[in-house]
Amino acid sequence: MKIFIDTANLEKIREVNSWGILDGVTTNPSLVAKEGMDFETLVGEICNLVNGPISAEVMSETANEMVDEARKLVSIHENVVIKVPMTEEGLKATKTLADEGIQVNMTLIFSAAQALLACKAGARYISPFVGRFDDVGEDGMRLVSEIMDILDSYDYNTEVIVASIRHPIHVTHAARMGAHIATIPYDVLKKMFKHPLTDIGIKRFQDDWAKMSKKQ
Ligand code: G3P
Repeated sequence: MKIFIDTANLEKIREVNSWGILDGVTTNPSLVAKEGMDFETLVGEICNLVNGPISAEVMSETANEMVDEARKLVSIHENVVIKVPMTEEGLKATKTLADEGIQVNMTLIFSAAQALLACKAGARYISPFVGRFDDVGEDGMRLVSEIMDILDSYDYNTEVIVASIRHPIHVTHAARMGAHIATIPYDVLKKMFKHPLTDIGIKRFQDDWAKMSKKQ
């Protein structure tokens, strides 16, 4: 499974990229707004840090305006993927952009029916938001499982980005379901390599090693 980081913070991207496990980056308008930097400059900086798909979201509401915005964003760098919301206008824009060879990540997916339409429109990626779905009493991972069933039955050139991840269990469930990508917030990535038994084990080895050194 590919691992993306879900942030627009350059420091966090730089740090996680240094671990050698990062395949791409997703941003959204809320994440970009936190950084207080010009959007296009920020996207360019992220592309310079990570060699993989970098999702940047359009803010327009009509298909024609989304397409104009998308064309401008892809001119920043060849790795830019256009995030388009799942609306009727978003579907039209996705079809146009896909026909032009521009990669689209259809976002805010909350049903298998929406996912199916996004695949048909030519989205290269679809982003079901599992955490936000859990938040309203639904089952985010069941949604991912339904989407994976659909993708297994057909030949769409679409990869699933499991998004709105809240904890490491979301990530491991996504991997067990064969989801192509998880986009993970920085804090969850940090939690993924932590285990108290690992820390206890390291401490015990260090203590035993120190005792042996004293004996010699
Ligand atoms: O980037 C899209 C998605 O991952 C947002 O997550 O935590 O705001 O629900 P969250």
